[in-house]
Amino acid sequence: MRTVVHTRQGEPAQVLRLREEPDRPRPDAGEVLVRMLVRPVHPGDLAGVEAPVGPTEQQPEARTPGVEGMGVVESVGVDVHTLRPGQRVAVFPAPGTWADFVVVAADRAVPVPDEVSDETAALMLVNPLTLLMLYRALDSALRGQKGSVVQTAAGSSVGRLVSAAAVRHDLPLINLVRSTSGAQRMRTLYPTLPVIATCDDDWPEQVRHQAGDRGVRVVLDCVGGAMTRDLAELLADGGTLISYGRLGSGTTPLERLPLVQRALTVQGVTVLHWMSRTPKERAQDVAFALDLARNTPDLLEVAASYDLADFKAAIEHARRPAKSGTVLLTTSQATDSGHGAADSGHGAA
Ligand SMILES: NC(=O)c1ccc[n+]([C@@H]2O[C@H](COP(=O)([O-])OP(=O)(O)OC[C@H]3O[C@@H](n4cnc5c(N)ncnc54)[C@H](OP(=O)(O)O)[C@@H]3O)[C@@H](O)[C@H]2O)c1
Repeated sequence: MRTVVHTRQGEPAQVLRLREEPDRPRPDAGEVLVRMLVRPVHPGDLAGVEAPVGPTEQQPEARTPGVEGMGVVESVGVDVHTLRPGQRVAVFPAPGTWADFVVVAADRAVPVPDEVSDETAALMLVNPLTLLMLYRALDSALRGQKGSVVQTAAGSSVGRLVSAAAVRHDLPLINLVRSTSGAQRMRTLYPTLPVIATCDDDWPEQVRHQAGDRGVRVVLDCVGGAMTRDLAELLADGGTLISYGRLGSGTTPLERLPLVQRALTVQGVTVLHWMSRTPKERAQDVAFALDLARNTPDLLEVAASYDLADFKAAIEHARRPAKSGTVLLTTSQATDSGHGAADSGHGAA
């Protein structure tokens, strides 16, 4: 079986390589072996390869990126009665999905309805669950108070989910993108939501003007870095900066934020903590994700598909400016599930 691995942290295109392994892993009790067909290239997957090793950590012996994807159950552990071989499943959290096979706990494999394509299934957990976690954090930060919400990188796959939810729930959202062309794309997609391009020198003034007297109560930020200070400055007193990603460069020391004077809160959100929700809560969240995959699959847009072996080209594409949607890594048509994925060849959009 093929697996993408790295044995040291660093630039993904340099440290990742394709390895052939003679044996497939075996599922223990409570686990299933999944033959993977489609996996996304998420920014977080690349960040997991790049992140420097902490002072108390060791370089990985051999680590495979990827936390979600879809495939077909190959075999099940002795006490697994909820899934059967041949069934299509979406998996998350499932460390190591950038491989032909992955073993996951049975409760991390969600059966995929017939009407959901393989590509959509591969994208239906991480970003929709992130949307739910962001919305819960937003709800508790707003505490019923009026005021605007600003989000950065609004054209991202997550940003578009947030925009769609804002339109649906009548949330006063102001979208930030980094380019004029990105602003135009967002205006076409979500004409009722204001969009501001941060390439304009006066973008903070434009946000303040748009927010009006009530100001900005919450910023949803996945850019961070040098932009953090400007974002915190936008917040009304008592406002909250919710940080969930780090696409930008540079840094902002905590001391440069007006936290104390303005009684601001900074909060981190990660979908990797989703497993700490109760089984009942997780089932409700998965039902939301399935509903989204069934009824609005266009919100889980695919930018392009590449064979797993072409992971370097896929990574380059995933990092391209103005990309729309998520890049997928697929397994060849010979092992297709018959639901439309894994036939896009090399780099077909
Ligand atoms: N915390 C969590 O659990 C969690 C879960 C999922 C995602 N995330 C984070 O959410 C963010 C979006 O993920 P995604 O998968 O939706 O991304 P994506 O679809 O790959 O889109 C990336 C977007 O980021 C924009 N961008 C890239 N670099 C930027 C920069 N330096 N400044 C401003 N904008 C920049 C791009 O804008 P252009 O169109 O101009 O190129 C593009 O719209 C990432 O930071 C990711 O790590 C976090």
